Parts: sequence; C-alpha cells; structure tokens
Amino acid sequence: MSVSVVCHPYPLSEVQIQYQNENTIMVRRILLSVPHIGSTEQSYVEQAFTSNWLSTVGPNLAAFEREFEDHIGLPAVALSSGTAAIHIGLRLLGVGVGDTVFCSTLTFAASSNPIRYLGAEPIFIDSNYETWNMDPSLLQEALRDCARLGRLPKAVIVVDLYGQCADMDPIREICANYGVSILEDAAEALGATYKGKPAGVLADVAAFSFNGNKIITTSGGGMLVSSNRDWVEKARFWSQQARDPGLAYEHSELGYNYRMSNVLAGIGRGQLEVLPLRVQQRRAIAFRYREAFADLPDIKLMPQAPYGLHTNWLSCFLIDATSFGVTRDELIRALDEANVESRPVWKPMHLQLLYAGCKCYGGLVAEDLFRRGICLPSSSSLSEEEQLYVINIVRKAVGADVLDHLASDTHALSGGSVTSGGKGLANGQ
Ligand SMILES: Cc1ncc(COP(=O)(O)O)c(C=O)c1O
Repeated sequence: MSVSVVCHPYPLSEVQIQYQNENTIMVRRILLSVPHIGSTEQSYVEQAFTSNWLSTVGPNLAAFEREFEDHIGLPAVALSSGTAAIHIGLRLLGVGVGDTVFCSTLTFAASSNPIRYLGAEPIFIDSNYETWNMDPSLLQEALRDCARLGRLPKAVIVVDLYGQCADMDPIREICANYGVSILEDAAEALGATYKGKPAGVLADVAAFSFNGNKIITTSGGGMLVSSNRDWVEKARFWSQQARDPGLAYEHSELGYNYRMSNVLAGIGRGQLEVLPLRVQQRRAIAFRYREAFADLPDIKLMPQAPYGLHTNWLSCFLIDATSFGVTRDELIRALDEANVESRPVWKPMHLQLLYAGCKCYGGLVAEDLFRRGICLPSSSSLSEEEQLYVINIVRKAVGADVLDHLASDTHALSGGSVTSGGKGLANGQ
C-alpha cells in the first residue's frame, strides 16, 4: 500500500502526526518564521475594499507612512519590498555605473544585488564574532586601501543581521572620516535599538522589509527612511514611475513601479500596532531556547551586543560539532525528519557564484558562522508546546534527556492577547 504524506501549512493545533485516513498521513510542519496577524489588520484592509482605495494611493498608505515615521522618528516612504528600498536608497546616494559599494558579506543576497542593478560592483566586508555584523576594523582597512588607490566607494551597506544592529558609532566615525555615505539594511532589524535609538536612524538612508518572514509583515513590502526629507520625496517620485507633474505622461527621469499598495499598507498599520509585542515574543523564544540548551556543550545563542536591544528576529545558534556531538547539517536533517524547518545561517556573499571574483576584506568569520550556524523556528506565534517539541528534537539528536517543560521565568515574556492567525508558509528565502 502506498502512503502519501501531506505537510500541512503551519500552524495546526497539536504536535502530532494525524492519521487522516488509511492512505494519507497529515503531518504538521513547524516553519522558521511565519506571519502573525493581530486583531486590526483585517479592518484596515476592509476599509480599503469598502472605500475602493485598492491601488498605490489611499488613506492606509498615508497613515502607515505617518505611523512608521512616528515610530522611527524619520520621514518614510512605503515601497513594494525591502529590496526596492535598497535599490532606490543606493541611487539616492549617487551610486551608478562603474562605482564600488562596500557591503557586509554575511547577509541575504537582497542586500547586495541592488548594487549590481545600478551597474556598480560590491566589495564585501567580514563580520566579527561579537555582533555577527560588519567588523569596523576591516571597514577601516578597506577604506584606507581604497583611499590610497584614489577609488573610494560611493556607499557602505551596513546590515543589521537577524534583529541586531551593527556597531554603528565606530562605523559612522570611519565613514565620516572618508566622506562615504551609509545605507543601513535594517530589513531584519525593525524593533531593534542601538544605544537607545531605533535601528535605521543612524545612517544616511535605511531600508526595512515587511516580507512574510519578517517580525511584522505586509505580505510583501518595504520602507525607506532618511533624515533628508527631500530624498524621501525623491524616492516616492521614483517609486511611482517618476512621472513629471502635469496631465500628460511626461518623464525626465528613470522611475520604477515600486510603490506599496493601499491594501497592503492596511496590513502594515495593524502589524505596527503589535510590533513591541512581537519583539517581546521573539526575544522570549530565543531565551527559552538558550535556557533549554544551557546544559548542552557548545550550542550558543547569537551574541546579544551590550549596546542595544536585539529582537532575535530569528533564534540563531552556533554549534561546535566536536563537543556538541552532531554537525549543523546533521541537526538540520534530524529536525527536518521531525517536520521542523531550520536553516543554515546566511551563506556569505563572497562565497556566492554570483559574486565570484569580488574582493572581500576578511571572510573567515562569516564562513565559520555560515558553516556552524543554525536558525531555529522563531515565529512569534510559536507556542510553548511547539517550542518544547523543537527543543527536544535537538536534545534527542545529541543523546540528552528530553525536557518535560520550559523554564518558567521566561513564560511571562511570551504572554499577550494577540491571536495567532498566521497561515502563510515561510517564504522561500
Ligand atoms: C538582510 C536583508 N536585506 C534585504 C532583504 C530584502 O527584503 P524584501 O524581501 O522585502 O525585498 C531581506 C529579506 O528579505 C533581508 O533579510
């Protein structure tokens, strides 16, 4: 008899294999990071439908930008993706054909691909172990070299990885010394802080993502912020095909179709209301894992740098296979067999075929983090029961005793009345 296995979209209610009928086994799969809808998103979306504001203009869009501006403290323009925000942000910084742009190597490809969209070339910079983000001393070395050659980069893309800000003070000081602008890729770090300031405010331009796997989502979307209001207005203009004022369709500059829709901005408005709770929930998940693995040798949570608040958008751990007992890939396999999705830490850009031949300052730290790093399920809607299930798969994989409950002191952090309505699969990244 052939039996088909159906992996059901997360979340179902119980951590169990369910026998649907004699031929089909329904298996619930715990995914890495799924949308988590609050109670008001639907009403904002309904308003868009009832008022027929279904395009890339409308009240939700204006309100979402205003509310985001209130949250971050900088003018903001809502776009179709975080990638679009990086693309337009680089153009605002004057990046063009033949330029070079520095970029953190340990990141998702969307950080650096817009460099190529503009006909420029990346030079990658390694991370340090303390933050997993750009190493300021390597940035200094790279800028010194480029200055000596008389070929400074047009910009530096500093990525805030997995919910933690890069160490912006030394990075800003070094860039200021050479007169080089900074674009902060805060796609993964909405809700994080650096020395009391929100991620995104310490750069010339910053980009955020509302992709389905992020801490809050609009299903797909992004936001560009800058203290330069003229730049934000320019970004808005370019994002709407750069149509010149007037009735006729006249264009004097190249534009893009990069504007967010008023419907999706409605989702964003509701999501922004629950952002502080989502930060709390993601942090609680990371700390529960840390507590539950405390007796296991060499499985360490990504460092929490002392200068700010790490949202732990994803709970990332570093494994030393020799003492831990299994390799990162063996652990991913064990989790997969138990229907739990986990992923390696980003493969550094300097190792990508796409960027073969591009220069990288350092690189060994990012390579090591990639080789040993694992991202565990981190959805803010992950229940304690589900997390205990994941934890015990990890513990079983190394022959440790299973736990029958989670540490109680972190429970309070995960509370809240927001409904767990996420139905989406983690996106394909
Ligand atoms: C570091 C980083 N930069 C940029 C992006 C691009 O954002 P989007 O998917 O909204 O285009 C993402 C995520 O998707 C990301 O993780």
